[in-house]
Amino acid sequence: MSTHIGAKPGDIAETVLLPGDPYRAKWAAETFLEDVICVNEVRGMLGFTGTWQGNRVTIQGSGMGMPSLSIYVNELISEFNAQTLIRIGSCGGMQDHVAVRDVIIAMTATSRGNPSSGIFRELNFAPCADWGLLEAAVKAARATSSPTHVGGIYSSDTFYDERPDLMGEMMRHGVLGVEMEAAELYMLAARHKRRALAILTVSDHLITEESLPSDQREKSFGDMVEIALQAAFA
Ligand code: HPA
Repeated sequence: MSTHIGAKPGDIAETVLLPGDPYRAKWAAETFLEDVICVNEVRGMLGFTGTWQGNRVTIQGSGMGMPSLSIYVNELISEFNAQTLIRIGSCGGMQDHVAVRDVIIAMTATSRGNPSSGIFRELNFAPCADWGLLEAAVKAARATSSPTHVGGIYSSDTFYDERPDLMGEMMRHGVLGVEMEAAELYMLAARHKRRALAILTVSDHLITEESLPSDQREKSFGDMVEIALQAAFA
């Protein structure tokens, strides 16, 4: 047991998928895994462990935003020895060629600030994905029907943004989408020498203002879980 994860030692697998939404963790575990047990209910941030094609996997909610994800990922790494951590989440599309329902595999994650900023002082550390996971995810994505983009994303501190000029700069520099967690995940993985990747479904679009109807979210989310599992065990 750690401060925010009530799992017993050994209950958490070395491979952990991290949706922001704890109910997405439940859905993904029940849909994709066998022999599922619930390993965490603390604060309602549900976590489940089961097997996928004979491999042990934990799917643990991370909550919204980098401070929340940082708590769970720190504890998963330090207290439960997680080795491979893959965020599966949603993002807002930021380029004309990126459509709602598409999948984005995040090569890098820009942020304005994050829970790790303090330790870098004047440095702007460049958080990036694990290459092996990224390469495997791209290969797995080609086998799905979801158009997939690979590139930089923006990990924002705000959902309701009051700085459209910043979004404009991100778009001008080719950033594909905005979410709120990946930069800190990549920093923690770099610090602790673990593998990390963020795979995102475009759920809304900052240019077209389109958003994915809730009855269509499951299919796109399913492709992303499949890509994450294939990449983790490639
Ligand atoms: N902004 C930030 N995070 C998000 C968004 C967004 O538009 N969509 C999904 N996660």
